[in-house]
Amino acid sequence: MKWTASNIPSQSGRRVVITGGNSGIGFHAALELARSGAEVILPARSEAKAEDAIRWIRAEVPQAKLTPALLDLSSLGSVRRFVDMIGDRFPGESIDLLINNAGVMALPQRELTEDGFERQFATNFLGPFALTALLFPRLKPTNGTRIVTLASLIAHEGRIDFDNLQSERKYAPLYGAYAQSKLADLIFALELQRRLSRAGSPIASIAAHPGIAATNLMAHFTGLYKLLGRFLTPLIAQSAQQGALPELFAATSPEAAPGSYCGPDGARERKGFPAPAKLPAAAKDEALASRLWETAERLTGTRFEVAG
Ligand SMILES: NC(=O)c1ccc[n+]([C@@H]2O[C@H](COP(=O)([O-])OP(=O)(O)OC[C@H]3O[C@@H](n4cnc5c(N)ncnc54)[C@H](OP(=O)(O)O)[C@@H]3O)[C@@H](O)[C@H]2O)c1
Repeated sequence: MKWTASNIPSQSGRRVVITGGNSGIGFHAALELARSGAEVILPARSEAKAEDAIRWIRAEVPQAKLTPALLDLSSLGSVRRFVDMIGDRFPGESIDLLINNAGVMALPQRELTEDGFERQFATNFLGPFALTALLFPRLKPTNGTRIVTLASLIAHEGRIDFDNLQSERKYAPLYGAYAQSKLADLIFALELQRRLSRAGSPIASIAAHPGIAATNLMAHFTGLYKLLGRFLTPLIAQSAQQGALPELFAATSPEAAPGSYCGPDGARERKGFPAPAKLPAAAKDEALASRLWETAERLTGTRFEVAG
């Protein structure tokens, strides 16, 4: 039987942090989690975006428990301020689910963040790495607590190029910088599970990808990509609502195994219902994963000690 949002078990009593919950698949994931009874902390890049999303969710789920917040994943300072806010507002081990959903794709020119990193690598990987590391002490060390990280089909085309990690030698917006960042997400999610298992932690790390979903992600496309995107998206993409299912499955289904990777079950994993997704060979390379982890710790100045 196909898994849909109606299969989400009651999320009552669970507190969720989802990044990028104001748009696209993250919005639909936040909506379904709220509908299932979760308390959702919804950080966005501006208060107005977070408030808007909360208003849209409340229009469907009037009793939803929602907290707006500010978070810019491309800024390590902003990540730290967000985690401090969580600590002040929700003391102790209080988070049941973290969904690293936010992302940016194919910025036409190489941009540097305030911390000096290439913007896609910073937003899609370094920021979520630091967020997960800093939030980790706030995650309940119990069965059912999960960290879900969004990868992409394009991870199959990606390569972690330690000599060009910040695209300092060559910048290719989509198949270079973006693909690298999404492969890094997938490697991170799997390495995190290995470290959780070694530490004897009941917390699970699970990766997911949405296939191809019609969202705002293509907003930065220019030229031929923009043209192709406009004509091909209606033909090959599924809705943002459907694209949210793999991450919702990873976040809530008792059948989602720790360290697994979930995507749509249709042809080439582009559309469909949650099913096991194929891993790129690089995602299984444990030496690469260790090197990437240490690099992320160094670049973000964040020691990520995975405790049991
Ligand atoms: N759509 C697809 O076909 C597809 C395919 C594979 C993977 N994915 C992945 O799915 C995830 C969600 O993307 P989507 O398709 O739903 O795209 P989307 O509609 O563009 O949503 C992306 C979300 O990420 C947020 N975001 C971007 N930069 C951020 C930053 N610096 N700090 C905090 N939040 C930031 C955006 O906020 P703003 O509204 O402020 O921009 C937005 O809420 C991403 O990780 C993406 O890589 C999508």
